[in-house]
Amino acid sequence: MLSQSDYQSLIEAEISHLAPKKHPDSLYEPIRYTLSGGGKRLRPVLVLSVCEAFGGVAANAMNQALALEMFHNFTLLHDDVMDKADMRRGRVTVHRRWDDRTAILSGDAMLTLASQQMMEKCDEDLIGPVLRLFNDTAMKIYEGQQLDLDFENRMDVTVEEYLEMIRLKTSVLLGCACALGAIMARADRQDVEAFYRYGEALGLAFQLQDDLLDTFGDPIVFGKEIGGDIANDKKTWLLIKSLSDDTTGVVRQEILHPSETAEKIDRVKQVYLALGLPEKCRSLIDLYVEKAIAELNSVKLSHPARDFFVQLADRTRTRTH
Ligand code: IPE
Ligand code: IPE
Ligand code: MG
Ligand code: MG
Ligand code: MG
Repeated sequence: MLSQSDYQSLIEAEISHLAPKKHPDSLYEPIRYTLSGGGKRLRPVLVLSVCEAFGGVAANAMNQALALEMFHNFTLLHDDVMDKADMRRGRVTVHRRWDDRTAILSGDAMLTLASQQMMEKCDEDLIGPVLRLFNDTAMKIYEGQQLDLDFENRMDVTVEEYLEMIRLKTSVLLGCACALGAIMARADRQDVEAFYRYGEALGLAFQLQDDLLDTFGDPIVFGKEIGGDIANDKKTWLLIKSLSDDTTGVVRQEILHPSETAEKIDRVKQVYLALGLPEKCRSLIDLYVEKAIAELNSVKLSHPARDFFVQLADRTRTRTH
């Protein structure tokens, strides 16, 4: 097993080769811009590390790891249009630097490039299982993303509905990354499923932390604008809880009759703080990190491999970007 940052470097070394320099440049330049923008490369790191944890060789799962990172980046291009987001990874988003039409079409191209890459150097007998998992995951993400949008216009979203929405839009991709690594290493079915559940639980913690950082993060470190979720009436765990716990009615009023954006963000944020919601959200994150770690118990792993996945899960609690 390598370290997380070593796996990240392996991905970084390969990712630039994925961005074609072809005609028309107006299609391919935004793709190169996106892929060269860094990011944590969490999903491909999971593919490679899980593959090695089951005795596989990272190089043999590299194409599938890169495909998943390409797919993730495609979702981000469209997500930033949907969320009207101006910043990502410390840079202006594609739809702001170019326009919505460019972000949609370059995103489409990335989805197809990801599908092609997924089949590269994949043993014939694994192509079926790999593509089935990939396509099932993609459909779930679209469902989650649609629910995320639908919830903007609802005031009665429950915590259960929220958790299912983030499971779909975020967790299944982390689960897919883990399962993909295990499949490429030809791990047993039970191990593939256990690692899928590890990724899924990790994903819930990961999205809860993302939602926390969206309100309380440092914009320079986080690389995204702070307050976008509040501005868009995203039904995050924080917002749902504040709607039910806030007796002053400030949050409800800011959704129905919003102040100017900066003031709206600040007023809602103050309610979150007054209700102690960040701490409560952190407890929920702890719960899902523990759940992810518990999933590792049913898998026979070497000590270094187990430590790797425990630490990776643990870092979700403290991540700042
Ligand atoms: C952003 O994913 C979308 C979410 C699921 C929150 P990441 O936080 O992994 O983004 P990058 O790839 O590291 O920029
Ligand atoms: C996005 O969730 C999940 C996907 C891109 C599928 P967010 O909308 O919270 O992600 P960020 O915060 O823009 O990265
Ligand atoms: Mg979104
Ligand atoms: Mg977004
Ligand atoms: Mg977010």
